Amino acid sequence: MRTEFRNESFVNFKDERNNAEYDRVLEQTEAGLGKAYPLIIGGERIMTETKAASINPANKAQVVGIVSQADVQYAEQAIQAAAAAFETWKRTDPSERARYLFRAAAILRRRRHEFSALMTIEAGKTRVEADVETAEAIDFLEFYGREMQRLSQPQPLTVSQEEENELYYLPLGVGVIIPPWNFPLAIMAGMTMAAVVAGNTVVLKPASPTPVIAAKFMALLEEVGLPAGVVNFVPGPGGEVGDYLVDHPLTRFVSFTGSRDVGLRINERAAKTQPGQKWIKRVVAEMGGKDAIIVDQDADLDLAVDAITLSAFGFSGQKCSACSRVIVHEKVYDTVLERVAERASRLTIGAPSAAGTDVGPVIDEKAYLKIQEYIEIGKQEGRLVLGGGTGDPNGFFIEPTIFADVDPNARISREEIFGPVVAFTKAQSFDEALAFANNTDYGLTGAVISRSGANLEKARREFFVGNLYFNRKCTGALVGTHPFGGFNMSGTDSKAGGRDYLLLFTQAKLVAERF
Ligand code: NAD
Ligand code: ALA
Repeated sequence: MRTEFRNESFVNFKDERNNAEYDRVLEQTEAGLGKAYPLIIGGERIMTETKAASINPANKAQVVGIVSQADVQYAEQAIQAAAAAFETWKRTDPSERARYLFRAAAILRRRRHEFSALMTIEAGKTRVEADVETAEAIDFLEFYGREMQRLSQPQPLTVSQEEENELYYLPLGVGVIIPPWNFPLAIMAGMTMAAVVAGNTVVLKPASPTPVIAAKFMALLEEVGLPAGVVNFVPGPGGEVGDYLVDHPLTRFVSFTGSRDVGLRINERAAKTQPGQKWIKRVVAEMGGKDAIIVDQDADLDLAVDAITLSAFGFSGQKCSACSRVIVHEKVYDTVLERVAERASRLTIGAPSAAGTDVGPVIDEKAYLKIQEYIEIGKQEGRLVLGGGTGDPNGFFIEPTIFADVDPNARISREEIFGPVVAFTKAQSFDEALAFANNTDYGLTGAVISRSGANLEKARREFFVGNLYFNRKCTGALVGTHPFGGFNMSGTDSKAGGRDYLLLFTQAKLVAERF
């Protein structure tokens, strides 16, 4: 067994030597951009005729890579390759399976700037956000490897005098892994390798804006010697390839993280039994959020301003956990609003590759246009206090934007915008603030900034979210420390990075023997 799991530490970018090293790797990465990437099915690299360019969202002219696109024929091949590999992978010793993850973690640790730099270029993450994500990817590998070791040990059962009982966690079969672009390394690798270490084989369809970072992770899996066919890589259009994979009768489970609309579509389609299908497909679907921070009348306002600014504008508000609603007690409302606006106005917006940038671009044109539509809606529904504009037209830049005096039923209070836009709402009491916070179909993260023990206890009972934080930001869940997943339309509350997670990709078999 390995040593106890510990979270990976982050690189200190206040140290100029670390910045210089990052810049060196960034330059090297930029020099290698524009390559063509194949599908990988059963270990075979397949360059398709149809390809899609992955673009740097901070510099639309820069092509990150040209990526082969699967169609339904390739999706079929990938499912068949995964089904064939399952026959041996399911019998592979769990400790051996775990060792592939530990090896991958060790290489990621040694080459972390390489992965982070590519995320800076392909996803528009600042170096700090990218580094935190690479650390999270390492954590998922180290954590799930250990979890599989734990689950493969004899499991606690009530002792019987008459017979010997044992419980085994068996894999399910072929899984379809559909990750989002906003954590293109950590969530993609975590979802994929949790299923794999549990003994399943998978078809990975990476998110369309960030296939190159997923391709780099595939190369890492090849480097550590993961057998062919265990992970099959099929970038392609979500609708066409995604539907085919989800519907396939050999698909045993779907692990999805992304928007509510796509998650619900997958859930419905997977529920339909296909001819020849022998099981009920399992769906793990982690979806969107409309996360709120409540500021109480007695709150530490310095802390509140920091927590709101970081949670709302970190990675341009493109985290499912991001704060998009701030609900403030009327006694401190004007002060908090003014101070957050002042603080956010000092954020540096620009190229995420530059040291010192706080806010980079949003991911693509679709997001850029959608966020601007919401800003127009916000102008009807609230008072624009900060931002509202765009930045350098060579990229998809949007200013941190704050709307004040927004009704809790307004569209910008209820719909996921997924950009650097936050709505402030005034509450007359803590109870009203809690009611406003719960006034959403979602239930992912939330935070309360308060010095009142009684109010924190009330929030502990009544604030209906999967991840609730007191006197801190509502983003930045750590693997093992803050198992992550939401309620209601935020998903199936799978608690990624938690001790129940791998069970979602297993079935338990009990064997009782009398001698
Ligand atoms: P998205 O739903 O647009 O895409 C997610 C994935 O689904 C992509 O790989 C996409 O190609 C694929 N897809 C699209 N149509 C499909 C179909 N018909 N069948 C199968 N797959 C299909 O989401 P996104 O824009 O990539 O990510 C942002 C969303 O993800 C936000 O809503 C965010 O809140 C959510 N998210 C949630 C969590 C969480 O843990 N709850 C974490 C990160 C992101
Ligand atoms: N795990 C990510 C966070 O907590 C989504 O911000």
